[in-house]
Amino acid sequence: MAIDYFQLTGKTALVTGASSGLGEHFARVLASEGATVVVAARREEKLAELVADINANGGTAHALKLDVADKNSVADAFATVERDIGGIDILINNAGVATAPTRFVEMSEEDWHWVLDTNLNGAWRMAQAAAKQMIAKGTAGSIINVGSIYGLHTGVLKANYNVAKAAVVQLTKSMSMELSRNNIRVNSLCPGWFYTEMNEDYFSSEAGEKYIKGFPTKRLGRLDELTVPLLLLASNNAGGYINGSSITVDGGLVESPI
Ligand SMILES: NC(=O)c1ccc[n+]([C@@H]2O[C@H](COP(=O)([O-])OP(=O)(O)OC[C@H]3O[C@@H](n4cnc5c(N)ncnc54)[C@H](OP(=O)(O)O)[C@@H]3O)[C@@H](O)[C@H]2O)c1
Repeated sequence: MAIDYFQLTGKTALVTGASSGLGEHFARVLASEGATVVVAARREEKLAELVADINANGGTAHALKLDVADKNSVADAFATVERDIGGIDILINNAGVATAPTRFVEMSEEDWHWVLDTNLNGAWRMAQAAAKQMIAKGTAGSIINVGSIYGLHTGVLKANYNVAKAAVVQLTKSMSMELSRNNIRVNSLCPGWFYTEMNEDYFSSEAGEKYIKGFPTKRLGRLDELTVPLLLLASNNAGGYINGSSITVDGGLVESPI
């Protein structure tokens, strides 16, 4: 009998930044494989729409208001999940922000800290809370930190984002070493460019279209091209021996000189 490597029935996945973009897609994918999904972000009305849609299509979803940059919000979120659902098996640590391209010498303290507080400190906070809950419950968990190709090479005019994502990749490696003894895998998914709220203004502009023409593929990624890489890392049946890895999904962009 064929093994269904990606099936997640009986698992619970918490997806941060699920109110739009990649996170919304990840939540739909995990629900379609049978996982109960907890969709988390700050915009509750967006989460409510997503929950209604997933539930209407035969999945099981719950909304959770969450600000990853606020330690009390993260603590409350995990307490709520524990009380209402019991705990999580999978964390998709996806919430993130970016500032407009800015020269290093012109970057404000505010922009520096905003990106680091969300993309790195928020990811660390969520990962630590998830790992503690998984260890306490003896869960064979999977934590997926959403990095970026800018965690692996250096984008121009985005020192704050480059530093945060490079640190997320290193955080992934550090966590994987320490948590493998607890049967928890930690990997990072590093996308190239995908059209989302984060970049829609730029990629709708002439400059953005010109930039895309310089990619090896001459196109952005499609969200469905992240589906199998996500499931590979999420599912213990599929990715049980993958730990501490960073998987790029970027059409080769990270190796190009652009
Ligand atoms: N799009 C790309 O090309 C690309 C490439 C590589 C990596 N990434 C990474 O992918 C992740 C998702 O980005 P995206 O492209 O999907 O952008 P997006 O559509 O702007 O989504 C970002 C998500 O993060 C949430 N978020 C932001 N700050 C938050 C906070 N303090 N607490 C909780 N949630 C927060 C937002 O929800 P609320 O505003 O409702 O809180 C939103 O759901 C990010 O980590 C990004 O760096 C994106």
